[in-house]
Amino acid sequence: MIHRPRVLVARRIPTHTLERLAQHFELEVNPDDQPFPRDELIRRLADKHGALTTGSERIDAEVLAAAPGLRIVANMAVGFNNFDVPACTAAGVWATNTPDVLTETTADFGFALILATARRITESEHFLRAGHWNRWSWDMFTGPDVHGATLGILGMGRIGQAIARRGVHGFGMKLIYRNRSRLPLEQEAALGARFVDKDTLLREADHLILVLPYSSESHHSIGAAELALMKPTATLVNIARGGIVDDAALAVALRERRIAAAGLDVFEGEPKVHPDLLALPNVVLTPHIASASVATRHAMADLAADNLIGVLAGSGPKTPIVADISPRMRPA
Ligand code: GLV
Repeated sequence: MIHRPRVLVARRIPTHTLERLAQHFELEVNPDDQPFPRDELIRRLADKHGALTTGSERIDAEVLAAAPGLRIVANMAVGFNNFDVPACTAAGVWATNTPDVLTETTADFGFALILATARRITESEHFLRAGHWNRWSWDMFTGPDVHGATLGILGMGRIGQAIARRGVHGFGMKLIYRNRSRLPLEQEAALGARFVDKDTLLREADHLILVLPYSSESHHSIGAAELALMKPTATLVNIARGGIVDDAALAVALRERRIAAAGLDVFEGEPKVHPDLLALPNVVLTPHIASASVATRHAMADLAADNLIGVLAGSGPKTPIVADISPRMRPA
């Protein structure tokens, strides 16, 4: 009898994707969608050939060493800071993510957070729901304009560029950005974008959005010193990863009105949220849902499945994080 590859599906995923995977693999599925404690993850991966993971599963050298048959870890996320990618490459294990399919949806949400934060949408809704609204006032919940303002983007990858297009073409914003590499000049010209140093970005942005990957270099890219450079009328949005912002320092800046407001979809140590942030009115808080449209979440699950099928039953991964690895051979 030919044994089918064994795959761990570490979290709940759409049923039709699970059914697709079941046509190719022997599946072990997380029964209750709680992230596995690390020792349980290691134990469950020991006899697997592939794993479908999300940001909650840390894959590093220790995990890989304990799973000698593992050939692919397929993240259902574009971010992959839960993977030690060099350790995967060294072990000959494909690491894949889900780029492109979530770009526009995530950019929509980033823009929604810019608007909600600047225009105080959740704060005013709480006021209304609490029964405090008894008359119209000219300055009730006034905030900064978004249209025509200066949009600052830190991290100009695919999602940053999609946000830039919305800001420039949809809202007539002026655009400044900082990134590891500069955009091609014709793309800068089409967006009227100015490539600036980080201090200029912080000083000049009316609305600053963070869309850079998390790594040890980007840890606390925005802390007390950076917040001190921003305009007191500015807003800050983080849809990238918790840890890029020093949440404690942000809470202080928001409380002292050193910046006007913030919109956060990601948090240090999430799903826990810094208690000081929870207590502040001038911060919009959402539970890591920037890519959460129905169609996009299905597309992400399907792309993760394509990668598993490509590696374990086909011609290779569709969206590998590192393209040239020497893949682990399947034990006979
Ligand atoms: C979500 O945060 C992702 O990285 O896809």
